[in-house]
Amino acid sequence: MPQRTVSAAETELIQKAHQYMPGGSLGNIGKDIVISEGSAGRVRDASGNEYVDYLLGSGPMLIGHAHPEVIEAAREQLDKGTTFFANNDKAILLAEEIVRSVACADKVRFTSSGTEATFYALRTARAYRRRDKILKFEGGYHGMHDYALMSMSPADPHDFPRPTPDSPGIPRSIQDEVLIAPFNDLETAAAIIEAHHDELGAVIVEPFQRLLPPQPGFLQGLREVTAQYGVPLIFDEVVTGFRFAYGGAQEFYGVEPDLCSLGKVMAGGFPLAAIAGKDELMTHFDAASTESDAFMPQIGTLSGNPIAAAAGIKTLEILRREGAYERIFATGQRLKDELQRMLDEAELPAKVIGEAPLFDVFFTENDVTDYRSTLLADKPMLARFNELLLARGILKGDSKFYISLAHTADDIQRTLDAFASAIDELKR
Ligand SMILES: Cc1ncc(COP(=O)(O)O)c(C=O)c1O
Repeated sequence: MPQRTVSAAETELIQKAHQYMPGGSLGNIGKDIVISEGSAGRVRDASGNEYVDYLLGSGPMLIGHAHPEVIEAAREQLDKGTTFFANNDKAILLAEEIVRSVACADKVRFTSSGTEATFYALRTARAYRRRDKILKFEGGYHGMHDYALMSMSPADPHDFPRPTPDSPGIPRSIQDEVLIAPFNDLETAAAIIEAHHDELGAVIVEPFQRLLPPQPGFLQGLREVTAQYGVPLIFDEVVTGFRFAYGGAQEFYGVEPDLCSLGKVMAGGFPLAAIAGKDELMTHFDAASTESDAFMPQIGTLSGNPIAAAAGIKTLEILRREGAYERIFATGQRLKDELQRMLDEAELPAKVIGEAPLFDVFFTENDVTDYRSTLLADKPMLARFNELLLARGILKGDSKFYISLAHTADDIQRTLDAFASAIDELKR
């Protein structure tokens, strides 16, 4: 098997990472690899090895690394100052573009991370509804705050709707405020919402949960039952926003929530995220237009940072150009189809799941439609496949292929060759 060559300089950095950082990592990807540069659809490690990149910084780099126009936009802003803690032209213009393009967005409030965005989206819904409980879906990822870390990845899940905390350090009382439902099971989710509607402040869902597409009617049904009881519906579009379509998953799947969280793509690779939604909810951020006991303070030193906003505006402009989404979808569909074909030909039980811009393989014979079915897949086999790909110059996350507009025909060919050779080895 080809091995990644690791230089003395990278080895030293890896040793320092273990010496100075818990777990030897930033907490993100666990691999002992130091990435030192990226350009378009490729990255290079500190030893000079080059990879076709499907990690894409965990998704933000949809148009590719170091896009010259985005760098120029960020650089122009750098020369003018890096942060002001005051309204700035770039943040205002980015908010305008989000309202223009995202169906549920009447108003926008910026944060620095997606975690903050989902946290504030939940608080906004609770402030509006004046109820405390939230419902989230098992396996749904909404960042790292206390409410999000309920049944995000339980090894041994409780019966619905009881949550399982994903981390120590979360107050026990949070468990009493969170209900858990199964993704893609409208009947069970609707029954929980009906039974608890009078206590519910919000329902939050990833419209495309991790890698699981919603089954036909699931999001529509959630929209109907939440509307029936007046419970705000939040789409967490941190991943899907501006990726599945310019208007996000709400455009792609044709269902409009009351609020959404955005991040990743719209920030052009910088720390910026947003809560966007209907006027009647977003008004809680406005001291002048809401009762004093309904006003929600929300302050962040870097919220609406002008460099991030400048990069975001330019990224969105590039995505609006003709053919951008067609290209992303064509690349993703080709890789997805070819991967499934090669795995079938090799007679390895495997399902390639997702949509063209974001997918991965589950090594299983079973249908994969909800969190519990993902647990039946062979995880060590996926980890081995990822390792084999890395050794062949393909970098991806533990469980995701993110597709970029910058991936070239050469990148695709290199990936297909790596698939073939990795699958060959996997069979042995
Ligand atoms: C759906 C979803 N929501 C929220 C987040 C949290 O965003 P951040 O990592 O910027 O805090 C993520 C991050 O991957 C995400 O995928």
